[in-house]
Amino acid sequence: MADLKQSNSILQQSIDAYGQTADMLDCPVELKRRAAQHQADRLSFLGRSGQAANVLKRLLNHIPGDIKLMNELGVQYLLSGKNRDAEHIYSQVVNMNPANGFAKSHLGFILKTDHLRYQEAIPLLRDGISSGEPGADDGRFYFHLGDALTRIGKPDEAYKVYEEAAGKGIFLSALQRSLYNADTPLTAHPWWTPEETGYQRAIRKLESNWEVIKDEGLSVLDKKSGGFIPEEENLREQGDWKQFTLYQRGQKNPAGCQKTPQTCAIIDSITDATSCKRGQIKYSVMLPGTHIWPHTGPTNCRLRLHLGLVIPKNVAIRVGRETRTWEEGKAIIIDDSFDHEVWHNGSTFRLILIVDFWHPDLTPQQRASLSPI
Ligand code: LMR
Ligand code: MN
Repeated sequence: MADLKQSNSILQQSIDAYGQTADMLDCPVELKRRAAQHQADRLSFLGRSGQAANVLKRLLNHIPGDIKLMNELGVQYLLSGKNRDAEHIYSQVVNMNPANGFAKSHLGFILKTDHLRYQEAIPLLRDGISSGEPGADDGRFYFHLGDALTRIGKPDEAYKVYEEAAGKGIFLSALQRSLYNADTPLTAHPWWTPEETGYQRAIRKLESNWEVIKDEGLSVLDKKSGGFIPEEENLREQGDWKQFTLYQRGQKNPAGCQKTPQTCAIIDSITDATSCKRGQIKYSVMLPGTHIWPHTGPTNCRLRLHLGLVIPKNVAIRVGRETRTWEEGKAIIIDDSFDHEVWHNGSTFRLILIVDFWHPDLTPQQRASLSPI
């Protein structure tokens, strides 16, 4: 009824009724199971995965050792950010049932992303994926299996994993591994010229104002508390890489723009970038001795411009199969849904401005309806 009438209040009533049913004295176990699972499912649908986890956990006390239930509980733990609890429950499942692909994929994923335990994660992810069990061969598992292989020095094996996933339609290609993609095909290549983007006017505007943009970036960099934040996605093999955000998910960051008002005034009129809900506009500073692991952005819905501001010697960026460098006052444009990697082997810091634009193939309707990232 809640689905039919699109009614949250009926949905809440159903959640309560499922709960009362499961809690009835002398409720037969099978009814308890079904009621609690429905309750958890609807709670999770509403984004209340912490509560869903509690429901499943209580149910598990009545049906200890039920592997399907344990796996579902692990998912709700992950959704509510309780990765430790998820790790614990998936470890239990793998001990009880060493062939359980679902638990192996999820445990491998946690060991890789939370603990960087690549050697342990790799066989778990591999077994999980090849089990063919529903839910065990999600794109994220291929993504992180390949990444773990890359990081232990086996890029050729990683590439095989990526090709396999691309063959199954999980990735757009072995090199283009974004997982949040437009539902229509978009022109895709690693490097773009301004003409190819159709955003030449905006690009010229950024290039012709590069010195103002640089000076404001430097002034924020100078103040130790200026707001540059270390990269937090664990993409660095080594070194130091910080960002100062002006816009994100199509919204201005007022605290940031207050410190760089002229830059934000220049950017404000570039609506193909400021409205890009699947991107950011930010300064990016990288110190000597930095290496960024090969990685891909989350979405193919944006193109990423880098405006060179302070560019020392011996810095480089590879996107796809081609490696280039930056130039002060000049823009490069990349599609960061393709595999890319950055090196700073110079002796002074490198500063660029990153500006994400909507992919030019996206229609206004698509831009309006895509969820923010
Ligand atoms: C990236 O987009 O991953 C990097 O190229 C950004 C940077 O600062 O070089
Ligand atoms: Mn990147």
